Amino acid sequence: MSPAVSDGQHTALELYAGTGVWARSMQHQNFHAVYHDILLGSEFDVTLPSTQARYAALDVDVTHHGLECRTFSVAANGKYRSKDFLQGYPRNHPRWTRKRSIIAKQGNVMAKFTLDDFERKLFAGKLCSVENPAGSLFWKLRRTMRLLDHPQVEFVPICYCTYGRNYKKNTRLMVANWSGAQQLASKCTCPENHPEILMGSKTAKAAEYPPRLVAKWASLLSQHFSSM
Ligand SMILES: C[S@@+](CC[C@H](N)C(=O)[O-])C[C@H]1O[C@@H](n2cnc3c(N)ncnc32)[C@H](O)[C@@H]1O
Ligand SMILES: [Zn+2]
Repeated sequence: MSPAVSDGQHTALELYAGTGVWARSMQHQNFHAVYHDILLGSEFDVTLPSTQARYAALDVDVTHHGLECRTFSVAANGKYRSKDFLQGYPRNHPRWTRKRSIIAKQGNVMAKFTLDDFERKLFAGKLCSVENPAGSLFWKLRRTMRLLDHPQVEFVPICYCTYGRNYKKNTRLMVANWSGAQQLASKCTCPENHPEILMGSKTAKAAEYPPRLVAKWASLLSQHFSSM
């Protein structure tokens, strides 16, 4: 990773990072943190074998995947897959189209890459996390469900309104080798309806992690590494 890491600095990598709010919070906690996203160039496209090979060879202390949820999320309204067809619809299904099947396959490649990387880190004793919305079909994949049963894997429910957002958005983390992640768990206890409803263009903006969430997350990770 570049630029050079200073003595004693821990390294962090954010993938599918969007604007990189997680990595920037980690930098505030003095991690050597970088963020990658296809938006920064095709060399960051995780569906490419060359990109995947580069990540597999990296030695990083903590990795976070904000896995692209386009084809897995409930917002896709079952266009690409369903509980009964988790890998995408077969050709003879009424919801199948060539275009959708190509997009679903890209989603499958990304999910596979993320699960491969997560397992690699899990078995190497490294910290790794994956985020996806609560209703995402990613959580229903057999491989994900098996990982969630692993004693070194935490499943962390998070509601953005508890981190200062005006709307309700439930997301989930799967975390390897860091039980401290449970301190991020939160549940909506709002007495009435939320001041804002998430719809239309707001939904894309809402993919960005709330500043309070990433600040607490980075601070907890900093405490974790300083206690080692
Ligand atoms: C849900 S957004 C992540 C938002 C991020 N967590 C944040 O706080 O801003 C998913 C990201 O995955 C990226 N992405 C989509 N396909 C990709 C690919 N093939 N390789 C790398 N990144 C990709 C998108 O550009 C998008 O920024
Ligand atoms: Zn709430």
